[in-house]
Amino acid sequence: NEIKIFCPATIANLSCGFDVLGLCLATAGDEMIIRKSDLKGVRITKIVGANLPLETENNVAGVAALAMLEEVETEFGFEIEIYKNIKAGSGIGSSAASSAGAVFGINELLGRPFTRKELVKFAMQGEKLASGNAHADNVAPCLLGGFTLVRCSNPLDIIKIDSPSELYATVVHPQIELKTSDARSVLKQTVSLKSAITQWGNVGGLVAGLYTNDYELIGRSLHDEIIEPVRSMLIPGFDLIKKTAYENGALGSGISGSGPSIFALSKGKETAEKIAQAMSKVYDEINLPYEIHVSKVN
Ligand code: HSE
Repeated sequence: NEIKIFCPATIANLSCGFDVLGLCLATAGDEMIIRKSDLKGVRITKIVGANLPLETENNVAGVAALAMLEEVETEFGFEIEIYKNIKAGSGIGSSAASSAGAVFGINELLGRPFTRKELVKFAMQGEKLASGNAHADNVAPCLLGGFTLVRCSNPLDIIKIDSPSELYATVVHPQIELKTSDARSVLKQTVSLKSAITQWGNVGGLVAGLYTNDYELIGRSLHDEIIEPVRSMLIPGFDLIKKTAYENGALGSGISGSGPSIFALSKGKETAEKIAQAMSKVYDEINLPYEIHVSKVN
């Protein structure tokens, strides 16, 4: 009658794949406890670690859960407790973790009427509340694990992508809050054909590299000449952190989701930890508070 779940953090976009690519971090994330209740409907009964609305309709977990319950009959309701570790506005899928966690947990308590892929569309309603846009590039990897591609969002077509087993992510979060809606509002609405060609070449290269365990191809493909030049201006120390990541062996580095977190991917834990140390030094030297995670991609 009760389930305790881990709700992983995620890195969306992965440089070239704006709004379509994402990956799941194995060890960074929130926790949730969801229990059945005699009272019908959904109630958020506790939030620890963040100042977020308790009203179901104003809470991303609540909204995602309600979207799901519209499509399935139940005799009972649900109470949700949320224990946040992922900060809102950090760029590692804080709202996605709560939205995906709610629908995953309720689905388990109901005996799995939906597949994990089917849960994505409900979790997207939480993303819509959080950012005004129902993107799936965080909720999909959060629910399916590993790397995912949102080939199309209407009708929804999500593909789980195989990836090499030794892939690690380092993510540094300079402690400023950047709202996804703000980081979207600065983007241009058109791209040049030249940039588009570069970008889809890289998306194809990245997916091919992941499937064939070709770390060098993955590295060559982790570039973004459309979104990153605009958004990186909002992130303190971005160029230096990225340069440091490459100098310390990263395959690639870029903005995590809509920022301000910055990710680096590497082969092996040792390199990922070396990058974390070097990134920490950069922010220590300019006295900027930060949080840093090293996690296997899983
Ligand atoms: N693809 C979204 C964006 C992810 O970059 O705006 C937000 O986490």
